[in-house]
Amino acid sequence: MAVLPSPIACIGAGAMATALTRRLQSRGHRVAAVLSRRQAPAEALAAAVEAPVASTALADLPADVRLVLCCVPDQAVYPVAETLSQLPHPWPACTVLHTAGALTSGVLAPVAEQGAGTLSFHPVQTFTAATPPSAFEGIRITLEGDPEAVAVGQALATKLGGIPLTINPKARTQLHLAASMASNFFVTLQALAADVGAAAGLDRSEAQALLRPLVAHTWANLRDHTPEDALTGPIRRGDAETVARHLEALQADLPGLLPAYVVLATETVRVAVRSGSLSHAEAQALLNVLQRAIGPADPLP
Ligand SMILES: NC(=O)c1ccc[n+]([C@@H]2O[C@H](COP(=O)([O-])OP(=O)(O)OC[C@H]3O[C@@H](n4cnc5c(N)ncnc54)[C@H](OP(=O)(O)O)[C@@H]3O)[C@@H](O)[C@H]2O)c1
Repeated sequence: MAVLPSPIACIGAGAMATALTRRLQSRGHRVAAVLSRRQAPAEALAAAVEAPVASTALADLPADVRLVLCCVPDQAVYPVAETLSQLPHPWPACTVLHTAGALTSGVLAPVAEQGAGTLSFHPVQTFTAATPPSAFEGIRITLEGDPEAVAVGQALATKLGGIPLTINPKARTQLHLAASMASNFFVTLQALAADVGAAAGLDRSEAQALLRPLVAHTWANLRDHTPEDALTGPIRRGDAETVARHLEALQADLPGLLPAYVVLATETVRVAVRSGSLSHAEAQALLNVLQRAIGPADPLP
C-alpha cells in the first residue's frame, strides 16, 4: 500500500474538513494548513489540529504540502481546483482529492493538467460539526481517480479507520444517490411520521417519543437482517383493509402526504413480495387499493 503523503493541507473548515483533519491529526499526521473562505473558522480548525497556517488565500498553501483535501461544497470544487492550478506549487509531487460524493475526480482536471494526482474520496457517513472523529471507524470510503491517487486514497482511508472501496466513475453518482436515499430520506420519513402524530393531536416531541423506540428497534433489525427480512406491518401481512384505512385518514387530515404514502407503500409491496411473505394475489389486492388513491403502478417483480 502507498505511504500517505505528508504534510497535508485542508481547504474548507466545515463538517467534513473538521472530521478528517481531527482524525488525521489524532493519528499522528501533520496538518500544515487550513485554508477556507472565512478566516475565523479557518483559524479555529487550524488551532484544533495544530496547523501553523490558517488563511482565506489559497496562495498561502505551503510549498511542502503533498496532499490537499478539498472539503468544500460541491459547487466550489472546480473553482478551487482552477485557483490551485494557477499556483506555482510542485503539483506532480502532490495528490489532490475532494470529498463530494456526487462528483468524479474529473472535476479536479485543472490540477491534473498541472501534473497532480487526482481523486474523489467519499466517506459514506454523515458528518456535522459535532461528529466525533471515530465516525470513520469501519465505514466504506469510495475512491475513484488515477491509479497512483487511488493508492494514496487507500492509504488515507485505512489511516482513518475506514475500508477503502475503489469504484468506477460511472458508479459515483449512483452510490451517492443510494447514500442520500438511505440517510436523508430516512430523516425525512421520521419528520413525516411526526407530522402524522401531530395530526392525531400529539405535540411533535411526544410524537417523536412515541416513534423513537420503534425506529430504534427497526434499525437494530436492519443491522442483522436484509430489508426483506426486517419488514413487518400491514403490507407484509397483506392487510389491504388497514392500508385503505391509512389512505382514508390521510385523505381526511393530511392529503398532501398521499402521494408519498402511495409511492412508499407500492415499493413496500415489492419488498414484501421479494421476502416471500405476500402472494401475487395479495400484492395485487394491495396495489389495487393504492392505485385507486393515485393511479397505476409498474408490474410486480
Ligand atoms: N457533511 C457530510 O455529512 C458529508 C458527507 C460526505 C461528503 N461530504 C462532502 O464534503 C464536502 C464538504 O461538505 P461539508 O458538509 O463539510 O460542508 P460545510 O460544513 O458547509 O463546509 C464547507 C466549508 O468549505 C468552505 N468553503 C466554501 N466555499 C469555499 C471556497 N470557494 N474556498 C474555500 N473554502 C470554501 C466553507 O466556508 P464558509 O464557512 O465560509 O461557508 C466551509 O468551511 C462536500 O463536497 C460534501 O458533499 C459531506
